[in-house]
Amino acid sequence: MTDSDHPDTRHPSNARERFDRWSSSYDSRRSRLFFERLHRRLAPLLAVGDARRVLDVGCGTGNLAVSLALDHPGVSVTGIDFSPGMISAAREKLSPVVDVSFRVAAAEELPFDDGGFDLVYSTLSFHHWEDRRKGLTECARVLRPGGRLIVVDITGDRWYCRMYRVFGRFRHLTGHVAYAKAAEISGLFEERGLTDVRQERIWPSIVLTAGYLPV
Ligand SMILES: C[S@@+](CC[C@H](N)C(=O)[O-])C[C@H]1O[C@@H](n2cnc3c(N)ncnc32)[C@H](O)[C@@H]1O
Repeated sequence: MTDSDHPDTRHPSNARERFDRWSSSYDSRRSRLFFERLHRRLAPLLAVGDARRVLDVGCGTGNLAVSLALDHPGVSVTGIDFSPGMISAAREKLSPVVDVSFRVAAAEELPFDDGGFDLVYSTLSFHHWEDRRKGLTECARVLRPGGRLIVVDITGDRWYCRMYRVFGRFRHLTGHVAYAKAAEISGLFEERGLTDVRQERIWPSIVLTAGYLPV
C-alpha cells in the first residue's frame, strides 16, 4: 500500500481478509471462465464513448479496468477496491501502455473530489457493500453533471436468485451482503437524482442498471 491508499476501517476486517485471500486465486482458470465471459459481454455495454475519466468501484484484480484502458486509448481508468490483496494483484498488471491506476478505498468513502469522473461503474461488487446507499451516494458525488453511473450485479428477483438472498444471512461465511431486487436498485438510483435510469438483464441473474447525473 502507498500513503495515498485509504483502507476502509468501518468494514468488519474479516470481510476484507476474505477478499484478500481470494485475490491470489481470483485470476485462476476456473474463476476466469466466469469473469472473462462477463467482462467480454459488458465491455461494449459500458459504452465508454467520449468519457475520458472512468472509475471502477470494487475493481478486484483490475481485469476490466485494464482491458477498458487498452481498448480506449486516451481514457484514464482508476480502479478502487477495499481489499489490499486485490489491489496489489491489480497493480501487477500496470504497464506504461495503459492509463490505469489502482487504490485501496471503500465504495462508501471514495477518496476523490466531487464531479471528477465521466463514467463510474461497478461490476459484481454492489451486493458486498456494507452500506449500499452510502456507496451509491458516493458514486453519484464523484460523477460530473451529465456523467453516467452503471452498476452490474446479481439481483434477487427470480427464484434461484432468491436462493442467493438466503446466502446473505450467512454473510460472515460467504461475504455476500445482500442481493437487491432490480427495482430496488433503480429506486436507489432515482433517489440519488439520477435520470434516464434503465435496466438490462445481462444474464438470467445479472442486471445492468445505468443512469445519468442531471446537467
Ligand atoms: C466478485 S469481486 C468483483 C471484482 C471485479 N469488479 C470484477 O468484475 O472482476 C467483488 C469485489 O468487490 C470488492 N468490494 C467488496 N466490498 C467493497 C466495498 N465496500 N468497497 C470497495 N470494494 C469492495 C471486493 O474486495 C472484491 O474485489
